[in-house]
Amino acid sequence: MDWKILIALLIFQHSSVSFQLDFANIRREIAGYQDIANQIIDLSVYGAAQNQSYNRLANFTDMFGYRLAGTVNLENAIDYMLQELQADKLENVHGEKAEVPHWVRGEEYATMLKPRVHSLPMLGLGYSVGTGPKGIQAEVIVVRSFDELEARAAEIPGKIVVYNQDYLGYGISVEYRALGAAKAAKHGAVASLIRSITPLSVDSPHTGMQDYAQGIKQIPTACITVEDAEMMWRMAQRGEIIEVFLNMSAQNLPNVMSRNTVAEIKGSTYPDQTVLVSGHLDSWDVGQGAMDDGGGAFISWQALSLVRQLGLRPKRTLRMVLWTAEEFGGVGSEAYFKDHQNEVDTMSLVMESDEGTFTPSGIQFTGNANATKIMTEVLKLLKPINASILDKQGDGTDIGPWMSAGVPGASLRNANDNYFYYHHTNGDTMTVQDPIAMNLCSAVWAVTAFVVADMDDMLPRDSDHVHIRVKVH
Ligand SMILES: *[C@@H]1O[C@H](CO)[C@@H](O)[C@H](O)[C@H]1NC(C)=O
Ligand SMILES: *[C@@H]1O[C@H](CO)[C@@H](O)[C@H](O)[C@H]1NC(C)=O
Ligand SMILES: *[C@@H]1O[C@H](CO)[C@@H](O)[C@H](O)[C@H]1NC(C)=O
Ligand SMILES: *[C@@H]1O[C@H](CO)[C@@H](O)[C@H](O)[C@H]1NC(C)=O
Ligand SMILES: *[C@@H]1O[C@H](CO)[C@@H](O)[C@H](O)[C@H]1NC(C)=O
Ligand SMILES: [Zn+2]
Repeated sequence: MDWKILIALLIFQHSSVSFQLDFANIRREIAGYQDIANQIIDLSVYGAAQNQSYNRLANFTDMFGYRLAGTVNLENAIDYMLQELQADKLENVHGEKAEVPHWVRGEEYATMLKPRVHSLPMLGLGYSVGTGPKGIQAEVIVVRSFDELEARAAEIPGKIVVYNQDYLGYGISVEYRALGAAKAAKHGAVASLIRSITPLSVDSPHTGMQDYAQGIKQIPTACITVEDAEMMWRMAQRGEIIEVFLNMSAQNLPNVMSRNTVAEIKGSTYPDQTVLVSGHLDSWDVGQGAMDDGGGAFISWQALSLVRQLGLRPKRTLRMVLWTAEEFGGVGSEAYFKDHQNEVDTMSLVMESDEGTFTPSGIQFTGNANATKIMTEVLKLLKPINASILDKQGDGTDIGPWMSAGVPGASLRNANDNYFYYHHTNGDTMTVQDPIAMNLCSAVWAVTAFVVADMDDMLPRDSDHVHIRVKVH
């Protein structure tokens, strides 16, 4: 038989058997978890675990500060977490190796020399090369967009390109940080300085990752403040000549071995089926990495901790993974996915919190129509804390590979309107975090993960992913 027909038959048979969803029954099954949901909420929000995730995070971030990929400090922080997770009586606590980049910022500064001397607060960008010890002194060209850059290509050789792009939302404007250096270098720029990607600035630069392009000269690149980018743009409009001196000793050192941090509560009935909760443990080398992503990492620990403290054990395995080197492009999670691809078919749900742990309102979810219907019911269990909204588009860098393979994915819906004020700055400290919000986030995370892990069936997904994979192997 033609293998394509065989697959079609398998899909057809499978969908007619196991996707015969009886929603009245499922609704009843999920409503039956209200008691457990209330226990989790009580423990986290009002009971003995009140402020526990916040206090654990405060201990951690005050002890280690920021945790840049490639550093001994991050590895020490991972060792500490492994100890704490063991002490918390979680199961299968271990690190899993992942090779990560080791970028070093070194000393760096930028000074505007003309039309007047002014020090420019700046942060070099991940993977940026340095300037060399002599630094780079050059005239500046200020552009407001990539289109303007292209239109003025002839003026660019030998200059430092300053981008003063508008903030049109992080997802859109981050292209300037990511690609600004490569696009400027293509036209002969000697360095690029990019307006920080934030809707609000108090004169602080925001760092982050950037990507050089293959075959194009790697030029030093950094973010400057919104205030300085706007000022230089105004000066340029007046026809003033602007000159900047940039000195960066950034370096890309050889890769080093890091670890993803894992802990579990083994499933009682289907230990090989899994619900994964996650956040990343690494951070940029500014502030304390308390918001990005200490909060997400510690509510993920707390989700398992609350379940354990209540003596609950779901039918499926609950697994927490704290990723390494997310900030350098999801490096740790990519390595993890490579090592665990054989679990795609048994992974019921992947969850990631990396967009703040402010007051939660529910979950953002990506899955097929039936899975969405089930999750809508699960979220109703969170009515007591007003966190029942099921929104579209669950996502996250670190669960991306699983979601691309067809696994349903969830992220935390929370009041993160101010997230990008602090993101990748020295302002990302414990001061941004709020214990009451973290109690609520932990409860949302724990109830969602526990109930999905304990239901009779795995979340449904579109069958073609599963069955074409099975056939091809
Ligand atoms: C959802 O469930 C219904 C009822 O069992 C089934 O007929 C339908 O094919 C399912 N849809 C998907 C996308 O799985
Ligand atoms: C938790 O934090 C809140 C807000 O700071 C505080 O009012 C409350 O007393 C704390 N609870 C405990 C048990 O420390
Ligand atoms: C934080 O650290 C202190 C002392 O180092 C310890 O007594 C306390 O239990 C820790 N808090 C949490 C929530 O782990
Ligand atoms: C650039 O910075 C490095 C490191 O601080 C320093 O050694 C060097 O002298 C600086 N270069 C200039 C030209 O100031
Ligand atoms: C939920 O909202 C209601 C109504 O606005 C409010 O009274 C209650 O305190 C809220 N509960 C929590 C846990 O925030
Ligand atoms: Zn993050």
